[in-house]
Amino acid sequence: MTRRILVTAALPYANGHIHLGHLVEYIQTDIWVRFQKLRGNRCVFVCADDTHGTAIMIRAKQEGRSETALIADMREAHLADFGKFDIEFDHYGSTHSESNRAICHEIWAALRQGGYIAERDVTQLFDPVENTFLADRFVKGTCPKCGATNQYGDNCDKCGATYSPADLIDPVSTLSGAKPEVRTAAHLFVQIEKLNAFLTEYTQSGKHLQDETANYLKGHFLSEPLRDWDVSRPAPYFGFEIPDSPGNYWYVWFDAPIGYIGATADWAAKNGETWEDWWKPSTPGTAVPGLPEIHHFIGKDLTYFHTLFWPAMLHAAGFNLPERVRIHGFLTVDGEKMSKSKGTFVQASTYAKHLDAQYLRYYYASKLGARLDDLDLNLEEFVAKVNSDLVGKVVNLASRTAKFVEATGLSATYPDDGGLFYDIAAAADPIADLYEQGEYNAALREIMAFADRANKYVEENAPWILKKDPQKLAELQDSCTVALNVFRQIVVYLSPILPRLATQTGKLLNCPMTSWDDVRTPLVGTPVSRFEHLMKRVELAQVQAMIEDGKQAAPQSDMNTGTPVAEAPTTGDSAAYLEKEPLTVENCSIDDFVKVDLRVARVLECTAVEASDKLLQMTLSLGGDVKRNVFAGIKNVYKPEDLVGKLVILCANLAPRKMKFGISEGMVLAAGAGGKEIFVLSADTGAHPGMRVH
Ligand code: MSP
Ligand code: ZN
Repeated sequence: MTRRILVTAALPYANGHIHLGHLVEYIQTDIWVRFQKLRGNRCVFVCADDTHGTAIMIRAKQEGRSETALIADMREAHLADFGKFDIEFDHYGSTHSESNRAICHEIWAALRQGGYIAERDVTQLFDPVENTFLADRFVKGTCPKCGATNQYGDNCDKCGATYSPADLIDPVSTLSGAKPEVRTAAHLFVQIEKLNAFLTEYTQSGKHLQDETANYLKGHFLSEPLRDWDVSRPAPYFGFEIPDSPGNYWYVWFDAPIGYIGATADWAAKNGETWEDWWKPSTPGTAVPGLPEIHHFIGKDLTYFHTLFWPAMLHAAGFNLPERVRIHGFLTVDGEKMSKSKGTFVQASTYAKHLDAQYLRYYYASKLGARLDDLDLNLEEFVAKVNSDLVGKVVNLASRTAKFVEATGLSATYPDDGGLFYDIAAAADPIADLYEQGEYNAALREIMAFADRANKYVEENAPWILKKDPQKLAELQDSCTVALNVFRQIVVYLSPILPRLATQTGKLLNCPMTSWDDVRTPLVGTPVSRFEHLMKRVELAQVQAMIEDGKQAAPQSDMNTGTPVAEAPTTGDSAAYLEKEPLTVENCSIDDFVKVDLRVARVLECTAVEASDKLLQMTLSLGGDVKRNVFAGIKNVYKPEDLVGKLVILCANLAPRKMKFGISEGMVLAAGAGGKEIFVLSADTGAHPGMRVH
């Protein structure tokens, strides 16, 4: 029976660009959707931008425009990025939509009616300059437990203590630098402990979650009373106002998952269906036939929201529950967290400037299983896999044979191939099972083993030798018919991962690929088009160029989630950062030294100035968006790459000086006798950019 499947990928935040980490998710989801469609299932893939919350509000304010203008731009950018990677949604909506608002109202009414909502006062820090309550990560201060400075409002990364931002010693708002005030406001809470029995049953049934997730939830949350979930935020907040609580807005994580339903509603409206057909248990005779299955793909950071809060909300409202929440791990690059200073925080658009999207789809698929393990993008392995597997094993099957049958087409009857075609066709169901379970890497191992056998066949038959013998033209046609047919089978199996290759192959063999079952019947007597290049080899230099480019285009945050954190005044205006009068040679004597503003700075980039034998050029970060361009005469003692990422001491209030190669906006401090003996002073790793040196 055809299944009816609704698939979602997590809704990307509208305050950051899509990067290679996000693509782990969107590519794997797209592969699964294409696979389902190819199998003949009815499958609808919806997604949307996640647009609400403090971060968007603050960013819009800093950029001097409305939130709606900001999210409209971001949506364009996201859609362009997804398009470049062949990620094809049936609908891409926005959580800031009327459909979403209406469904939020409906679910909220159900929660109220079910007696799940409680009201309580919450004391929060408030930024009097920015006129906003401060989420935990917008407050920094000294850890109340161990005294470490510069810690976020929710926990200390030195001693691991968790606390509320009001407990921080000397808190400052990371938005304005102001000292926050303590304010109290009424918040609304969902009492999800009331749904503990239901959640235990749902999460522990063995049907909906990976075992490791189920065990984690049981061990960490469900065995104790679940804490009430704070779902409201007082104005000002960019979001939907709560209908029966004027001046209060739903917290972004309330309306974000409901956005899945909102997007379904917008899709349904375009397609003559209703969202209720998918999200509400069907009334006999009214719904589209077939029970709907809902599948969510998410990263492991979203586990709590999607396996506890979300099913709780759906259950309380009497809606359908997710059949499966498919959780994946995080991307690392060359074994490390993505990092902008290393250039490994690569945006989707930067990748696409340098490399073919199909490479990444293939590479990710080759690393993805059904478990939650993190996934490493190893750049050398990436190059090797693309070249040896994709180009060397798959594309080569066609490039070595198609030209020999361009004039004749394929043989009229399928030749004896020793059982090769049959064996590949017989693997249709086992390979499908692996895709179904998300075991893409295992599926690829099977498929590539067939590619190896096919290549062996081509080697043994050597059409390039047959071609030289006029007596062997029939044999030539037959061996190419076999090679191209098994090539086609392999491409059908790969087509969820490589849709472009599938389209090109369809053109080459004059038969578009439309179904998984295309592997079962060979093509015979059909024309073969002129062979056009299918895919190029990749060079390590192209990957390196992308990484270099990534250093320039990186977002302002080193966080993995694509959520830029506002850290300091983000005016980008260095002058605004100065608190002391600019110093020049004329006005500074030793007595004036106290005027010198010394700051810790991080070296973001460092390059040798080609035309100078002394100078290195550095881009330094003073925290937040505040950056400085500085020249330092240390070329003969430091390799530029050794300085990148280091914390140095900068004299930050020197008047900018025009030099031959550009303007130097400060001076990096070094000590030593001169010559080879110069040592750049560096700050302790506990320091952070922007810190004052006393
Ligand atoms: N807006 C929320 C999701 C709301 S869903 C109702 C969000 N957005 S996000 O843009 O930060 O992340 C989108 C998805 O990308 C999430 O599933 C997240 O786990 C995933 N990833 C973000 N960075 C990632 C890596 N570095 N590696 C793998 N997946 C990553 O969270
Ligand atoms: Zn601490």
